[in-house]
Amino acid sequence: MPQTLRNDRFLRALRREPVDCTPVWLMRQAGRYLPEYRASRAKAGSFLAMAKNPELACEVTLQPLERFDLDAAILFSDILTIPDAMGLGLYFVDGEGPKFERPLRDAASIAKLGVPDMETELRYVTDAVRVIRRELDGRVPLIGFSGSPWTLACYMVEGGGSKAFSIIKAMAHNDPKALHALLSVNTDAVIAYLAAQRAAGAQALQVFDTWGGVLSPAMYREFSLPYLTRIARELERGEGPERTPLIVFGRGNAAYLEDLADSGAEGVGVDWLIELGEAAQRTGGKVALQGNLDPTTLYGSPDAIRSEVRRALDSYRDGNGGSREGHVFNLGHGMSPDMDPEHVRVLVDEVHAHSRR
Ligand code: CP3
Repeated sequence: MPQTLRNDRFLRALRREPVDCTPVWLMRQAGRYLPEYRASRAKAGSFLAMAKNPELACEVTLQPLERFDLDAAILFSDILTIPDAMGLGLYFVDGEGPKFERPLRDAASIAKLGVPDMETELRYVTDAVRVIRRELDGRVPLIGFSGSPWTLACYMVEGGGSKAFSIIKAMAHNDPKALHALLSVNTDAVIAYLAAQRAAGAQALQVFDTWGGVLSPAMYREFSLPYLTRIARELERGEGPERTPLIVFGRGNAAYLEDLADSGAEGVGVDWLIELGEAAQRTGGKVALQGNLDPTTLYGSPDAIRSEVRRALDSYRDGNGGSREGHVFNLGHGMSPDMDPEHVRVLVDEVHAHSRR
């Protein structure tokens, strides 16, 4: 069912084509800061029950779009669906985040892993993509996503979130072969997962390398970058204007922008530790850039938010030869539950108003 997109600013910006104003969406735009999300979650019983129910996943995906003038929707799901489908047993402890019942601690357990079957084990994700596309009805494009091989491996080996990443870094030093085997199967799974989301109707794809920045440069170039590059090169996504763009987002990736611009991805997502203008200069028009307001800006007053939005937009333009093309506005990382929804409206409206050509 081909639909015409009524708002294609986001896809045009990723192709570095002219747009009437800069598109904007926010990482974690569907979440606990919205009272209607908390109501849906209470109805479902838990986050996972909601993510595994395509109708509820659709409901919460659309919630931020009903309130704000956002230029893209993002599938409501999680990056940890892949390790869950690989049999690690995902669960959530309130206030402690995600955990795995069976974390991977040795080469033998890694050798047993296989790429999950997208048609059965991850069917709930592609079903959600289909339901959301139907309900969006061409309003804005839908973004599908996955974790990066390294970021998934962090949760799979640590068994949950971590501050020091000592278990996986010990594995990197003591048994790099086992870690590469894990990263390799994760890469195969990510490629199959993104391809399945694309086939179901995702119109752009993002890989979250949330924890790439905890690696030393030498380790990043060994354990994260090559696998991101393999995804960007091997993931089939069409040609020309119909090509499905891939965005590689990473926290702490400022040191690697030239490599990421050469990875084969259409877009690079950056955090707030670099000026957007510098990022634009260093990537030299090879890719679109997405970002990069510090999420805590949303705790500021409406005036403070507007002024930071204008600064980021102007920084991008100045570093991009005076042109606003090729910029997708976003935060440098996801939103938090205690943020004020009205501040999101201020941000989104200022992006459009200040960048209007
Ligand atoms: O952006 C969106 O609106 C789409 C949905 C989305 C979620 N998780 C929903 C979610 C996306 C894109 C993710 C990705 C994700 N999940 C990442 C990468 C991006 C990032 O934020 O760095 C990571 C590392 C995860 C793993 C994960 N899942 C964490 C750390 C948490 C938070 C746990 C907590 O208690 O805060 C989750 C759960 C999760 N995923 C929530 C949401 C809205 C909160 C669940 C809830 O309690 O309702």
